[in-house]
Amino acid sequence: MKFFVDTADVKEIQELNDLGLVDGVTTNPSLIMKSGGKILDVTRQICEIVKGPVSAEVTATDYEGMMKEAKVLMKIADNIAIKVPLTLDGLKACKAIRSDGRMVNVTLCFSATQALLAAKAGASFISPFVGRIDDMAEEGMEIVSEIRTIYDNYDFKTEILAASIRSVNHVKQAALIGADIATVPPATLKALVKHPLTDKGLATFLEDWKKTGQHIG
Ligand code: G3P
Repeated sequence: MKFFVDTADVKEIQELNDLGLVDGVTTNPSLIMKSGGKILDVTRQICEIVKGPVSAEVTATDYEGMMKEAKVLMKIADNIAIKVPLTLDGLKACKAIRSDGRMVNVTLCFSATQALLAAKAGASFISPFVGRIDDMAEEGMEIVSEIRTIYDNYDFKTEILAASIRSVNHVKQAALIGADIATVPPATLKALVKHPLTDKGLATFLEDWKKTGQHIG
């Protein structure tokens, strides 16, 4: 499974990238707003840190507007993946951008049938929003599983990028289903490493080691 970091916070991205945990980054208009920076500057800084796919989202809702914005965003770096919403205009833009050989992440996906259309449009990535489906008292991971089955049935190359990930368990479930990528908020990514028995066991080892009076080196 690849881990993308779901943030536009450059400092957080740098820290996690230094740990070797980052295969890509996803941003969206809300995350850009939270960063307090200008989209082109923030996205450029992220692309200077992370060499994997960096998703930058268009804000136009019409095809022509999306294509204009995509051209601006694609100039930032070769590893930019243009994020378009799962609408008919978004799918049309996806097909056009993909025909130019550039990456597209189709976002705001909430059903397997939407994901089927995205694959037909040649999307590089599909982003089912697990947490937001859960918020509706439905099963977000069920959608990821359905998409996995459909994509495998037809050997679609679109990568499943599980998004709106809210917990360590979401990451585990997405991995068990076989999602290609999970895009994870920094805090959740860091939480993956935590287990109380690891902390307890390490403390015991260090206490016992201290009793030996020995040093290595
Ligand atoms: O990548 C999509 C993600 O940023 C949305 O997360 O928690 O706002 O549903 P959330």
